[in-house]
Amino acid sequence: MENGNPCRGGRRNPSAVSVIEFERLEQQIADLETSAVCALSMLLDLKDLRTGLHTTRLTEWALRVGELLGLPEDQLRDIENASMLHDIGKIGLPDKVLFKPGKLTEDETRLMRKHSEYGWGILRKIPCLENTSLLVLHHHESFDGSGYPGGLKGDRIPLGARIVAVVDAFDAMLSTRSYRQGLPMEEAMRRLRQSAGTQFDPKIVELFERIADSDLHEVSQLATSAA
Ligand SMILES: [Fe+2]
Repeated sequence: MENGNPCRGGRRNPSAVSVIEFERLEQQIADLETSAVCALSMLLDLKDLRTGLHTTRLTEWALRVGELLGLPEDQLRDIENASMLHDIGKIGLPDKVLFKPGKLTEDETRLMRKHSEYGWGILRKIPCLENTSLLVLHHHESFDGSGYPGGLKGDRIPLGARIVAVVDAFDAMLSTRSYRQGLPMEEAMRRLRQSAGTQFDPKIVELFERIADSDLHEVSQLATSAA
């Protein structure tokens, strides 16, 4: 059988080894993948590049969009990994650019934009994360082709990367930074909708809106019950 991700058993023939041995190897490989993702996530934490809540929320949203699209487990796993590690390449950027509170200069912006390629360079070296590395490489592409690094357009942007782009932008709009207050959920959603078809895949925005709507409902219910 010559299909699927070789790291997840796609190229192994179960008849060549005992089923138990096959399952044991698959489990070992899955554990290795999980360990690699955890270790790299810890690096992001050590570098103070995100908070646990940010990543959990973003990953959960991305997976829910993937599930609404009916994606297979392999792809969901890649999306989960990419949601956690999409900014891993920022580790290669100087702190004075990374944590600059004000507006970046043109040169600094150019450097900052390198983070998706740096991330791809790191993750592609890990066999189980080859697919994830492509989602990381393209997570700043725009649906109309104006993004980076490839200037890819529409469906040429990997689906997982289009999903990560939407949830990452939404999460960034909600998050309070040292230099600005986070936006209310309704306003962030309005801005996302405004960029559907230009920056973002309109279908992903539409699906995400359904999820955000139900989250809004839960939040307002919690606020009512706490009052
Ligand atoms: Fe990024």
